[in-house]
Amino acid sequence: MTHRIAVIPGDGTGPEVVAEGIKVLNAVAGPANIKFDYHYYDLGGERYKKTGETLPGSVIAELRQFKAIYLGAIGHPDVAPGILEKGILLRARFELDQYINLRPVVLYPGVDCPLKDKGPEDIDFVVVRENTEGMYVGAGGFHKHGTPDEVAVQTSINTRKGVDRCLKFAFELARKRDRDKKLTLVAKTNVLTYASNLWFRAFEAMAPQYPDITTDYAHVDATCMWFVKNPEWFDVVVTDNLFGDIITDLGAIIQGGMGVAAGGNINPEGVSMFEPIGGSAPKYTGLQVVNPIAAIAAAQMMLEQLGETKAAAAVDGAIKKAASKDMKSMAAGKMGMSTGQVGDLIAKYAVELI
Ligand code: IPM
Ligand code: MN
Repeated sequence: MTHRIAVIPGDGTGPEVVAEGIKVLNAVAGPANIKFDYHYYDLGGERYKKTGETLPGSVIAELRQFKAIYLGAIGHPDVAPGILEKGILLRARFELDQYINLRPVVLYPGVDCPLKDKGPEDIDFVVVRENTEGMYVGAGGFHKHGTPDEVAVQTSINTRKGVDRCLKFAFELARKRDRDKKLTLVAKTNVLTYASNLWFRAFEAMAPQYPDITTDYAHVDATCMWFVKNPEWFDVVVTDNLFGDIITDLGAIIQGGMGVAAGGNINPEGVSMFEPIGGSAPKYTGLQVVNPIAAIAAAQMMLEQLGETKAAAAVDGAIKKAASKDMKSMAAGKMGMSTGQVGDLIAKYAVELI
């Protein structure tokens, strides 16, 4: 089976970690009887500086034709915040209608956890973040910009359709995962009496269709506390775009840091895009010190989405083995080996596990 994959290495350390993900994919391809046909795109800060282009419409049209997109990182120190993020990353998410941002929070065995007395059996949940609406739509504007009377308005857009499809994905996932069969809605119903209220009503309306799923609700501020105090309470968490952005950075640190956190921008009916969630880490560019596990785990999620379950399981096992057996730390510069060496090891273990 041949899979056509668009690869966007992107900025900073993106290309370095993407190279390791591709290394692992290529290693499992033969034994798993898969063929990958990669097409590289030079989207990112350098292209923007040269041409002023972020994500041209012609490239979006091409991206629609792939089975999946594999992304490194977007963000460049010479480019003002927002231009590349909105112009490339958010544009891709919106245009390709990748309405789910799926972010597993899994503590691998042997990985240092900053939480006292918590281990891999306590930290194993998934955040389903809505990915095309909320505060991210960019609805709003300035009035009397730059004057003492300036007004700035930014509005959260929540549609019933967008909320329902996100909740449905989360309920289905809670059913598919064989854990606690529990879904927690995270919002702020005590203050956001319109936006969070819509989420809450939609959640309550859908719950009877899933009698096998236990439902729970937590305010977003309390959720930050529970992620630290009782992460074992969570199985599947569903929330809006901005809350999901914030709580998944917290999720990343309890699973060992940005070096291990992966995510998928999912369009269940279209093209999905997989990425390490940690950003471009420009100060480490070219030093071979950043952890490629997040990017390799993103490639692993991509394998699952492509239906390559055998290869996906092997890569997952290989990551766990390297993390527990060989690596000194998950932090940049402290792994006891280079970015490339981590990739070599995981590629080798993945082939052995197939
Ligand atoms: C993420 C990132 C992005 C987001 C930024 C880079 C726009 O933080 O993927 O979590 O806020 O969604
Ligand atoms: Mn983020």
